[in-house]
Amino acid sequence: MSAIDQARKTAEGLTYSSGFGNEHASEAVPGALPHGRNSPQRAPLGLYAEQLSGSAFTEPRADNRRSWLYRIRPSAAHPAFTRVDNGGLRSAPFTETVPDPNRLRWNPLPDPAPGTDFLSGLWTLGGNGDAAQRAGMAIHLYHADSSMTDRVFSDSDGELLIVPERGGLLLRTELGLLRAEPGHVALIPRGVRFRVELLEETARGYVCENYGRPFALPDLGPIGANGLANARDFLAPVAAYEDREGPVEVVNKFCGNLWSATYDHSPLDVVAWHGNHTPYVYDLRRFNVIGTISYDHPDPSIFTVLTSPSDTPGLAGVDFVVFAPRWLVGEDTFRPPYFHRNVMSEYMGLIDGAYDAKADGFVPGGGSLHNMMSAHGPDRETFDRASAAELEPQKIDDGLAFMFETRWPVTATAQAAGAEHLQRGYDDVWQGLSRNFRP
Ligand SMILES: [Fe+2]
Repeated sequence: MSAIDQARKTAEGLTYSSGFGNEHASEAVPGALPHGRNSPQRAPLGLYAEQLSGSAFTEPRADNRRSWLYRIRPSAAHPAFTRVDNGGLRSAPFTETVPDPNRLRWNPLPDPAPGTDFLSGLWTLGGNGDAAQRAGMAIHLYHADSSMTDRVFSDSDGELLIVPERGGLLLRTELGLLRAEPGHVALIPRGVRFRVELLEETARGYVCENYGRPFALPDLGPIGANGLANARDFLAPVAAYEDREGPVEVVNKFCGNLWSATYDHSPLDVVAWHGNHTPYVYDLRRFNVIGTISYDHPDPSIFTVLTSPSDTPGLAGVDFVVFAPRWLVGEDTFRPPYFHRNVMSEYMGLIDGAYDAKADGFVPGGGSLHNMMSAHGPDRETFDRASAAELEPQKIDDGLAFMFETRWPVTATAQAAGAEHLQRGYDDVWQGLSRNFRP
């Protein structure tokens, strides 16, 4: 059986534990999970007990994240890590280029060199903040044609929100297995080791590396108790372990650099766990889209799936926002996204179809960056069409776009600023918007 067939077979029929931020508990072998205490004198079945802390011990209960892992060997049993090449990965602080006020847009990444896996296929577009200060974010893309074999990755610098655009992924994490198809997002918490196997010949997509506070569901305010992304649609894995001897490379991203160590066993050896520092997967098509039923449309914050709060209420380190299929019914309303200048910086990507503010040039796998206060909005063709449209109820059902929206300007990496696939002449989409003023 080929590696892809094997991964597909494994991905079929995975079971999950549902709920966002829940206190989950799971055991792959009956009796592996201790009851009534976390760290008994002797953990069951000869396992080692280990706590993985995603927040400081003393953070408020609502923000506190940790999981207890019961594993074949403790994580501490490893040789020294040594530096390895960072490949296409870059990290904050981003200083390779000066921050650029221009609107920028990229085509999809070129095809990967044969043998490129998820980790070696990561390519950083830009970001902000400082990984060592646990503030800010990075925008990565990936394009891979191979599964990770005999190696795993973990990111000490932040959590990874993976947004597949082409090709499904099987994510084997310390806490269990997740399947992430295009249209899903998967989150790997800070420090959790994982391996990515491909379910198709190639895989392409986006990653938001969030150095700041973990993504949470936004408050709903007057929307009420339900709506937007519903907590029960977030799926955490159940315990699944590898009992495997032999060399496994463990790559760790630490303060911007990749470090590698060769273990004599797989560290994906957690037989049971409980806690709330967990990976999860979420199907964006489950998003409950809320919009106007009278006039105007709400600001796109109404489409927020996840938010990484900062110390200032309402001001996110980064928001993850989805433009999902929805009805447009606003009366006397310019229905596409309005012209806009924003103190927040907006990186947009497209998972499928088209986006209702751009007639062309913004394609699946590509992306646009509208940095702090840069002017953007519908292109000329879209403006002309929407201004003259008959305002009947209209279903937007052929697109799935998303945004990483961040409080700080995004500085591009040198490879992104000089990329072959950077579109020249993006400004032209706003040329020819005619002067219609008639006093
Ligand atoms: Fe905007």
